[in-house]
Amino acid sequence: MRADFKGRDFLTLMDFTRDEIEFVLKVSMELKRLHAMRAPHEYLKGRTVGLIFEKPSTRTRVSFMAAISHLGATPFQLTPQVMQLSRGEPIKDTARVLDRYLDGLVIRTFGQEIVEEYARWMKKPVINALTDLTHPMQGLADILTIWEHKGRKSIKIGYVGDIWNVCHSLMIMSSIFGYKMYVARPRGYDPDPKIWDFVEDKSKETGAEIVLTEDLEEAFKNADVIYANTWHSMGGPEAEKDKRLKDWAGYQANEETTKVAKEDFIFMHCLPGYRGEEMTDGIIEGSHSVVFDQAENRMHTEKAVLALVIP
Ligand code: CP
Ligand code: NVA
Repeated sequence: MRADFKGRDFLTLMDFTRDEIEFVLKVSMELKRLHAMRAPHEYLKGRTVGLIFEKPSTRTRVSFMAAISHLGATPFQLTPQVMQLSRGEPIKDTARVLDRYLDGLVIRTFGQEIVEEYARWMKKPVINALTDLTHPMQGLADILTIWEHKGRKSIKIGYVGDIWNVCHSLMIMSSIFGYKMYVARPRGYDPDPKIWDFVEDKSKETGAEIVLTEDLEEAFKNADVIYANTWHSMGGPEAEKDKRLKDWAGYQANEETTKVAKEDFIFMHCLPGYRGEEMTDGIIEGSHSVVFDQAENRMHTEKAVLALVIP
């Protein structure tokens, strides 16, 4: 394993070079191969990894726990409600205590500043399992899935759904890999300025084309990948669900709207998905859909991150 990853936090993909991300993905492919052969890969035997989830999760929680177990380490589910955090113990104290017991910490929470605060007070690596701003673990699995189905060529992604963590991480990845990513959304829904600044700068360097459009057809036209995500993410946007159902009506990947994509397009979705909103049952269940390969890849890519960063 490359020594330069050991001890590093994984808070956002903006902290990593293209070369480093490619290395993580290559390690993911190797670990996926070993897993398929049922070959042992216990690179973290005897280590302990904590998991704090302040929002619901199926994929991230279970894929991390499986990955930690396959690596020979022990996962600890640290339910925030039963920790002293719930009685107001500050993160800086919690983090310094956890640092003495654990070899790494995986956190899903609200603000990006919360994962940064844990990272500031812990020497051991902190891994972002989704914040409102970013979802780097999703971004890694998305690119691995694209490589597997579309190869390493430059592609066009037509994205529809909330401009939030998953979209931000895919924009970051698309800008790093020189992809075209067309994001369809109603007027008034825009990316976070910090993400947009990064994406604009990076695109100048790599030739990526990240475009915001109100026109779903423009986004899907000639796309190699159609990517859908919920209109109402967990956290902030959930509270305005009724407004969003109205604003986003029609922004849907379905049998009609995807006709303008390339004939062999793949359909991706981070899941959980809402049939009848951002996509139809026919699309997710149809022959273009690779959503369960994508979900599986969460485990292989997270395993690579754990193996690389945990000392
Ligand atoms: N895609 C994803 O992160 O799913 P979960 O919310 O189930 O973890
Ligand atoms: N954008 C969604 C993704 C869930 C994995 C959310 O934050 O709810």
